[in-house]
Amino acid sequence: MDRRTLMGMIGVGVASAALPAAAALSKPGRAPRGFLWGTAGAAYQVEGGNVASDLWVLEQLKTPLFAEPSGDACDVYHRYEEDLALVARLGFNCHRLGIEWSRIEPERGQVSEAELAYYRRLLQACVRHGLKPVVTFSHFTVPRWVAASGGFKDPANVEAFAAHCARLTRAMGELIHLAATFNEPNLSTVVRWSGLGEKIRPFIESIQKAAGASQNAPNWSSPMLGGESHFDGIVAAHSRAIEAIREAGGRFPVGLTLALPSDTAAGGDDGPLKRKQAEMMDRWLAAPGDFIGVQTYTSTPVGPEGDLPPPPGTELTQMGYPFTPDAVEGAVRMVAARTSKPIYITENGVATEDDSRRIAYIDGAIAGVQRLLADGIDLRGYIHWSLLDNWEWMHGYKPKFGLVAVDRKSFRRTPKPSAAHLGAIARRGGLA
Ligand code: BGC
Repeated sequence: MDRRTLMGMIGVGVASAALPAAAALSKPGRAPRGFLWGTAGAAYQVEGGNVASDLWVLEQLKTPLFAEPSGDACDVYHRYEEDLALVARLGFNCHRLGIEWSRIEPERGQVSEAELAYYRRLLQACVRHGLKPVVTFSHFTVPRWVAASGGFKDPANVEAFAAHCARLTRAMGELIHLAATFNEPNLSTVVRWSGLGEKIRPFIESIQKAAGASQNAPNWSSPMLGGESHFDGIVAAHSRAIEAIREAGGRFPVGLTLALPSDTAAGGDDGPLKRKQAEMMDRWLAAPGDFIGVQTYTSTPVGPEGDLPPPPGTELTQMGYPFTPDAVEGAVRMVAARTSKPIYITENGVATEDDSRRIAYIDGAIAGVQRLLADGIDLRGYIHWSLLDNWEWMHGYKPKFGLVAVDRKSFRRTPKPSAAHLGAIARRGGLA
């Protein structure tokens, strides 16, 4: 089963503050000073041992949903200092990371001061290494008690998320450079267009039921699997979180990130493509917030019945996506045509065992970034997915998105040539 299929059953999701001003271009064709050049990871995919998360419960069901369990992941929980030092040494000025809500609040209302202090130290380490922290408050996962009581379909969980964001703001808000409430809340719409969503719905529903049975929680609904049924709750949680962050004194910009393939119209009819774009963007772009995070991996031809397979002979990545380094440029243009909010590329990358293809992908993507900047589009950062070869949800550890390899036993980090390559681009502010 394709990852996007699973993730599409997911409905996860979104928000004014002083944004860092877009600085003047330092050199023609180069990124302005203050442009964010970063690497990324998500708490559940890299930390390891997130046993209080709803995802951990789903993994323990031992269904074919996950190729392998996340386990220790990349042990970033214990190794962040080494990782951040490496990111800084490579030449980046920012790092995107997630805060795992289930560590902070493993049971409803039981807040771990030790974990709050941990994440504060993590953000302090970013700052010490000269890396601006871009923080995601919910990257697909929620505490198991949230899923057990219906996910974001339960208004109490909407309020709990807002309270969580306010708590993080009070504990470490002055260290946060930029925050996303939810990661890719629109992904299930993207997957519905792929046509696979409907096909696997019974399987996904059986997993939700099994998770509920295992937890004695008949209302169990993991937002990650709950698809569009969580959308209203996620929009409400996003909006309430922004209010709560501001009330708690948070001055950092808050936004949301969107899954945005940069598609093409099949057969010359762009009606279906326009419908797909409206469905995957409009409600989220209309939500409150200070910026939009664009997350793009590929480009798909769209026909009247939905996405079409790529033409024969198309180079595919380990995820089965067409290899399309220019997709991210198209996605940013698509968003810029619909909003005047600043845009950050918060994820872009490629799953491949062949690091020379990653370098080619990076060069193609950054050429696009430079064209966007030259055209005056308010693009303020490029964050690469990902820093490490990490746990790729249902695909386990097989797809290699990382700039840095991780030994699965010793956790030893080995930077790939692409890490130095993108780091040099970051230092220079553009391609050589
Ligand atoms: C998600 C990441 C994921 C990446 C690559 C994005 O949709 O935010 O968590 O690892 O895609 O598949």
